[in-house]
Amino acid sequence: MQEIASLQAKDAQEAEALRIKYLSKKGVITALMNDFRNVPPELKKEVGMKINELKNAAQEKISQLKESSSVAASAADNVDLTRTPYPIKLGTRHPLTIVKNEIVDIFSRLGFTLAEGPEIEDDWHVYSSMNFADDHPARDMQDTFFVESHPDIILRSHTSSVQSRVMESTQPPIRVICPGRVYRNEAISARAHCFFHQVEGLYIDKDVSFTDLKQVLLLFAQEMFGPDTKIRLRPSYFPFTEPSAEMDISCHLCGGKGCSFCKQTGWVEILGCGMVDPAVLEANGIDSSVYTGYAFGMGIERITNLKYQVKDLRMFSENDVRFLNEFVSAN
Ligand code: PHE
Repeated sequence: MQEIASLQAKDAQEAEALRIKYLSKKGVITALMNDFRNVPPELKKEVGMKINELKNAAQEKISQLKESSSVAASAADNVDLTRTPYPIKLGTRHPLTIVKNEIVDIFSRLGFTLAEGPEIEDDWHVYSSMNFADDHPARDMQDTFFVESHPDIILRSHTSSVQSRVMESTQPPIRVICPGRVYRNEAISARAHCFFHQVEGLYIDKDVSFTDLKQVLLLFAQEMFGPDTKIRLRPSYFPFTEPSAEMDISCHLCGGKGCSFCKQTGWVEILGCGMVDPAVLEANGIDSSVYTGYAFGMGIERITNLKYQVKDLRMFSENDVRFLNEFVSAN
């Protein structure tokens, strides 16, 4: 007992050493307790009480020593225990989320509401209802991920499937913006990935024209890339729009003068668009003799690359905090 009362410890480490010596599984007091079964029955009561007293005293003494040594240590380190624990390191939003939010925000100010659909889709919503011919190359294994046992179930390869989901359940006027992840069976490199993100837009009403589309896209481009941004539409082809176009914006890195980013052309492509093909309206239960509409789709990675000059697509999915921390102030 006296030995216990006189124990000393300079720091937390020494106090811990004492705990191990007396109280751990192989400690002195534990050994005494293990020997207890060899004590003759008539002495059991007395010896038991003594051992318990010893154990309690040791526990108390050692926790006292630990406490006082930790207070001493922090005082020695000059730590102010009353200080609030700031600055707390907050996480950052992912650059793709930042840009997606910005795109959705611009279109919501124009009256578009948010719509979403499943990433695991059926062939109908991704292709057939979107006017893809049965032998269209995009349905090919090289592009689309199929669920092996269910060839009808696929990972959507574009967000246009959400157009179909909205049309089949809503009559016009429809004005939706649909962000989401899409999948394509591509070899992963700096310029391609097996999944990426798109934002789809769809507007259907009476008398919607190509002029409306062009005006909305111009407004979007100027909100996103600055008021001096110009747009240009080039004829293109998509099964679900007619006529179709691809939209370029004046390169905002060189102001249209030509640089390595725009390959000296002064223009960079950012989205596909067009008037919804009447066959698509009909396939999705909308009367094409009454309604017309436009649709557009853009890659979020592409817009993010333009805004932040990310050179390697793989950075977006590697979760390297050094990369993510670059976007702290963009939140
Ligand atoms: N779905 C097309 C693509 O993935 C983009 C697009 C959407 C084009 C809507 C026109 C209209 O490339």
